[in-house]
This record gives sequence, C-alpha cells and structure tokens, in this order.
Amino acid sequence: MKLLLLGKGGQVGWELQRSLAPLGELVALDFDSTDFHADFSQPERLADTVLQVKPDVIVNAAAHTAVDKAESEPELARKLNASSPGVVAKAAQQIGALMVHYSTDYVFDGSGSQPRREDDPTGPLSVYGQTKLEGEQLVASNCRRHLIFRTSWVYAARGGNFAKTMLRLARERDRLTVIDDQFGAPTGAELLADVTAHAIRETVRDPSKAGLYHVVAGGETTWHGYARFVLEQALAAGVALKAQPAAVEAVPTSAFPTPARRPHNSRLDTGKLRTAFGLVLPDWRIGVARMLQETL
Ligand SMILES: NC(=O)c1ccc[n+]([C@@H]2O[C@H](COP(=O)([O-])OP(=O)(O)OC[C@H]3O[C@@H](n4cnc5c(N)ncnc54)[C@H](OP(=O)(O)O)[C@@H]3O)[C@@H](O)[C@H]2O)c1
Repeated sequence: MKLLLLGKGGQVGWELQRSLAPLGELVALDFDSTDFHADFSQPERLADTVLQVKPDVIVNAAAHTAVDKAESEPELARKLNASSPGVVAKAAQQIGALMVHYSTDYVFDGSGSQPRREDDPTGPLSVYGQTKLEGEQLVASNCRRHLIFRTSWVYAARGGNFAKTMLRLARERDRLTVIDDQFGAPTGAELLADVTAHAIRETVRDPSKAGLYHVVAGGETTWHGYARFVLEQALAAGVALKAQPAAVEAVPTSAFPTPARRPHNSRLDTGKLRTAFGLVLPDWRIGVARMLQETL
C-alpha cells in the first residue's frame, strides 16, 4: 500500500509519520517540500501531486489551526481548510484513493451539554469552524471513499501545548486563572494517529466503514480541570511550583476576550467510531499523564 501524508510537521502529522509507517510506502510532505508541491495556500497545484504520487491512501493533516488569527485572514483559512482539501479529495476520487481528513468540534455552536453526534446540526461560531465545516463538506462530496475525523483540544508532547504553558506559569506565579465554562476532552495527537492507522486498515478491507466519525479521548473536563490535573501531576513528579493546584482560579470565558468565539460545549459522542472499529478510547487523563511524563 502507498500512502501520501500532507502536513507531516504538525502535531498530528508528526505522530502520523510514526503510525502510518508500518502500513506501507509513506510519502510525507509539508508546505515547503521541494520534491512535490504541498503548499495548501496554492490549492490548484495540489492535484498534480496526488496524480504524480498515485497513493492508495491520502491522509491530510495540514490545516490553518490558528483560531483567532483566522478571523482576520478568512481567505487564507478557507484555502487551507476548505479549497485545498477539496482539490485533494477530487484528485483522490480520480485515482480511486481513500482520503483521510480531520475536522473539529468547532463546526458546532457549543450550546447545551449533550455530547454531539455526527449527524447533529452544525453551526460554527468562528471563521476557523466555518472553513473546517466547508472542508469536510468538500471532502465528503468530492471523494466517495473518505474518513473524516472530528476531534477536539489536541495536544502533543512535541512543541508547545496548554499543559506546558500552565506549568511555566505555575513556576512563575502564585496564582493562575483558567476558564471553567468550556467542556471537552484533551486528545493526544498520538491517540489520533493510532486510531487513524487502525481505521485505514479496516476501511481498506471493508469500504463500507468509510464516513464521518467523532474521535476524542474518554471522559470530559474544563480547561480549569485540565490545568489542575497538570499541576497535580507535576507536584507528584517532584516539580517545584509557586502556584499549587488549589491556586488555579476558575473564571468564565468572558474573562479572556478573544477575536474568535469558542463553543462552551465541545463534547463529542464517539459511539459510532467505537462500534464501527471495535476501539476503546482511553480517559483523557491517561494520555495527558503520559505526555507529562515524557516532557517533565
Ligand atoms: N489543534 C487542535 O486543538 C485541533 C482540534 C480539533 C481539530 N483539529 C484538526 O486536526 C488536524 C491537525 O491539527 P494539528 O493540531 O496537528 O495542527 P498543527 O499542529 O497546527 O498542524 C497543521 C499543519 O499544517 C501545516 N500548514 C500550515 N500552513 C500550510 C500550508 N500553507 N500548506 C501546507 N501545510 C500547511 C503546518 O505547518 P507549519 O507548522 O510549518 O505551519 C502544520 O504542519 C487539523 O485538521 C485541525 O483542524 C485540531
């Protein structure tokens, strides 16, 4: 099997380089790759890359993920999150490839408290959410054999992340203030990459498994609960902190005004994925604790 990975240097892309490698011959590209064009700001040239590489499977991890910045550059966000995935999907259909793509809980309006299912009505609050929704619609309509994974609150050991920021602030300050009215599940790029590899194998064997799925770690928390958990783990590992977990103050979203509105309810129902692929999605604390052990 030949696989083409786009966006290889991102949080998920980096982990996909590991998890996809055992599946076959992997061609992994980033926006500045020189052997093939893989810059999503120039959608029209991406079809040639797909036609030249001729993969059996395309995995797209490239995206415009700067949620606040997207508000002031909607055209670029739309190229990266919608037009380019659409072009790749059309080329995938032309060569009969399976296309894998990622989307987000930000396609929903975040109302209520129930975990959202795949067929629940969408209602993005931001340019990022709107362009990601357009992207998943273009992928689904242009390429019959697709896997689209909506996920939330992605972190990775590599590069910066929320947990590392909380640790830095807790070393510098006596007190932290963190939002406690957005609910979701921190989800490791590792977990997403492993689920992706498994789902690809299953869908190549049984094309009826293609479709849209929600993939997040088990359980739920708020950013406030997440921050406290991180500090508790750090203390248990012997890290000296100025701010103790009890000194993390809960504040509403309105305490931190941002250009983009974020959903209060980021809960996603993962029942469809767990049933279709026979997978277990471990509690979010397991992945976060593991990431902290690797980085502390
Ligand atoms: N991060 C989250 O919390 C989150 C939540 C829900 C869903 N998702 C979705 O999950 C997927 C993976 O996200 P992630 O967290 O891995 O994001 P990420 O770390 O920001 O990675 C995005 C990748 O896209 C690349 N990229 C940027 N501009 C590009 C261009 N013009 N052409 C080609 N590639 C370009 C980035 O390269 P550079 O790093 O060099 O800029 C990076 O490799 C995305 O579809 C995202 O929407 C993410």
